[in-house]
Formats: sequence, C-alpha cells, structure tokens
Amino acid sequence: MKISVLKDAGGQEARVAATPETVKGYVKTGHEVSVVKGAGAAADFSDADYKEAGAKIVASNAAAVKAADLVMSITGGDAKLVAAMKTGAGITGLLNPTDNPKYAAACAEAGVTAYALEYIPRISRAQSMDVLSSQSNLAGYRAVVEGAGIYGRAMPMMMTAAGTIAPAKCFIMGVGVAGLQAIATARRLGAVTTATDVRPATKEQVASLGAKFIAVENDEFKEAETAGGYAKQMSEEYQKLQAELTASHIAKQDIVVTTALIPGRKAPVLVTKKMLDTMKPGSVLVDLAVERGGNVEGAKPGEIVTTKNGVHIVGHLNWPSRMASDSSNMFAKNLKAFLPLVTAEDGAYAPDWDDEIIQGCALTRDGEIIHERLKG
Ligand code: NAI
Repeated sequence: MKISVLKDAGGQEARVAATPETVKGYVKTGHEVSVVKGAGAAADFSDADYKEAGAKIVASNAAAVKAADLVMSITGGDAKLVAAMKTGAGITGLLNPTDNPKYAAACAEAGVTAYALEYIPRISRAQSMDVLSSQSNLAGYRAVVEGAGIYGRAMPMMMTAAGTIAPAKCFIMGVGVAGLQAIATARRLGAVTTATDVRPATKEQVASLGAKFIAVENDEFKEAETAGGYAKQMSEEYQKLQAELTASHIAKQDIVVTTALIPGRKAPVLVTKKMLDTMKPGSVLVDLAVERGGNVEGAKPGEIVTTKNGVHIVGHLNWPSRMASDSSNMFAKNLKAFLPLVTAEDGAYAPDWDDEIIQGCALTRDGEIIHERLKG
C-alpha cells in the first residue's frame, strides 16, 4: 500500500506519526512510504534519515495525500486536506471526534475512512496500539519534571556542610496512566509523594510505587470504578468530603500534579481558589486536565498563572508534544502495531471490518458516519 506521513499542524504539534525506524519496517514489508518534507524535524528526525529508511520526501501535505491509501498523522489535518484524498483511502490520528465532529463529516463526504486512535478499545490485544497510554505516560513524567523546574527549591533531601535541605512534598491527584508515571517520577527525584484517586484499585498501585494513598474511602468510593476501568462522576456529598480532605493536605504541598478526568465530561475541579490561598509561595500546580476544563480553579490553557500569594499554576497544552522525540517514537510504534488490521495478506490497504478494534475506532465508512458515539 501507499503510506503517506503528514507534517502536523505547523508550530503547534512537534510530533510525527512515523519515525525512520517504523518507515524502514514498512518499506521492508513492501509498502511505499512518502514523508512530507520536515515532518519529523521538530521531533529530531531528519529528512535524510527518512530517505535512508526508504521513504520518498514530498513537498507538502497536499501532495502527499493525493495518491495515498493510508495517511498517518498525529492530528488528522483539516477538511481541505481530507477532500484532496483518494476515495476509499484511510487516515489515522488523534482526531478528537468529541470536540470536532465536523472532521468526521468531512471524511464521510470525501469517502475517506477516519480512524480515531483515541477510540481504540482498551482490550489486552490492543495494548500495543494504545496511543492514549503511550502519550499520557510521557505527559505524567514531563509534568513532574517541568513542575520541578519551576519550583525554586530542590526535590530530594540533601545533607550538606552548609545545612540540610528538606525534600519537596509532591501530591498527585488522579492515578491513571499519567498519574502513575508522575508518582514514579516524583519518587525517583526524591520527593515525599502522596496521591489520590476515586477508584479503589489505585490504592494498591500507589502503595506499590512507594507513595502514600490519601482518599475519602467510604461506600461510594468502593463503587467508583466503571466496568471499563474509568472513574464515575462522584456525588456532591462525596465531592464535599473530598474537598475537605484535599484542603487540609494541599496546604502543606510543594508540587501538585492533577490528572483527574471523567470520560465524556468536564474535568472535576479538585483544587479551589480558597485552597490555593492556603498554599506556600513558590508552590507549583501542574494541571494536566486543563484542556478539559481543568482540575485547578484559575488554571489557564497554555499559560503559567501566578496567584497573589505566589503560587504558580502551569496550564501547558499538549504535553506529549513537549517531548516530541520519545512521544513520536511511541506513537509510531502504536501505529505499526495497528497497521496489520488494515492490511490484506498481499500488502494492499484493506481494513478488517470484522475486527472489534477497527469497529471501535473507525468513524466513517463508504461516505457514512458509522461510529455510535457520533450518531446523535
Ligand atoms: P483518565 O485519563 O480517564 O483519568 C485519570 C484518573 O483520574 C483516573 O485514574 C480517574 O480515576 C481519576 N479521577 C477521575 N475523577 C477523579 C476525582 N474526582 N478525584 C480523583 N481522581 C479522579 O484515566 P486513564 O489514564 O485513561 O486510565 C483509566 C483506566 O484505564 C485505568 O483503570 C487504567 O488502568 C485503564 N487502562 C487500561 C488499559 C488497557 O487495559 N489496555 C490501558 C491504559 C489504561
């Protein structure tokens, strides 16, 4: 098949969906690969490396998509680009179908199959294709490292001739994929680490990473995990108890990383302005949920806000893009694991429509929007 690798949204997105390593594998198995000039530059992959791996370098996204059977991207490009694709071709990426339903409509109109990688079901067989996990893991790491960079003190305890430095206190709120890596990173840096979540399964995970678990563990907590492994929306009563517990704990913290999300909903507010007022000057909060409304009151998407009492709230967007080389490597490997599901035995592009992974992530087919979540 003919595979094209896009240069994703200029300036906003540093990642690339295929690396010289994965391209080499594709070419070796008989696929033809085109990579847009400069597609990997922001992730430290040069055109020369792609060329050496066997790719053809093309001038623009528009030129790359014309003859492609499958377009690999991070964000899917725009409706105009999709319209330039071949009827019957496919495009993969983090297509953000919930916030951007018009994109799926454009794909349907162009007769293009859109594969939203964030919708890949989280079943064991699909673990190697799970872009949400591969990217969140790096986001969790980076959040702690950047938080530590902004924090004006040391993370580990240091005993020196000039005196002792106390270890930083780090609190991770939300222990999914990003939160677990944030805990591990904070621990490696020597911080005294605590963590909270509403799902009981996380208690043991937190302990196994050497951190202390803090949560309101009432009857509602025992039922807070959905069958799919996600958090439920908690009752007002629970949220009140959780806020009281957080309020007494957070005043003593130096770095707080929040990652709490509930699928399909606005992120829960876990840290209020009132709580921020009790924190020490120089404390840092990193809000990974800012794109979905934020866990910290006053967090601003894309900005670092400093409160009157000197507390910094970091609202960076697109954390995986801040470590584009590693995140591209992981993303590209996820896609490499996905490719067989859209490849016939002779190497041609042919999605396996009987496969539940394809059914789970394909938004469109033969000019129609087919995904349940997009059919109002
Ligand atoms: P997520 O990004 O949806 O949410 C992050 C965390 O926030 C979750 O742990 C959630 O419980 C927590 N949270 C939500 N509301 C909260 C509140 N009010 N207070 C405190 N914490 C709150 O989660 P993510 O990272 O996508 O993981 C979700 C689940 O999926 C986990 O059970 C994880 O183990 C599972 N998973 C399964 C995989 C597989 O089987 N292939 C792969 C990756 C994750």
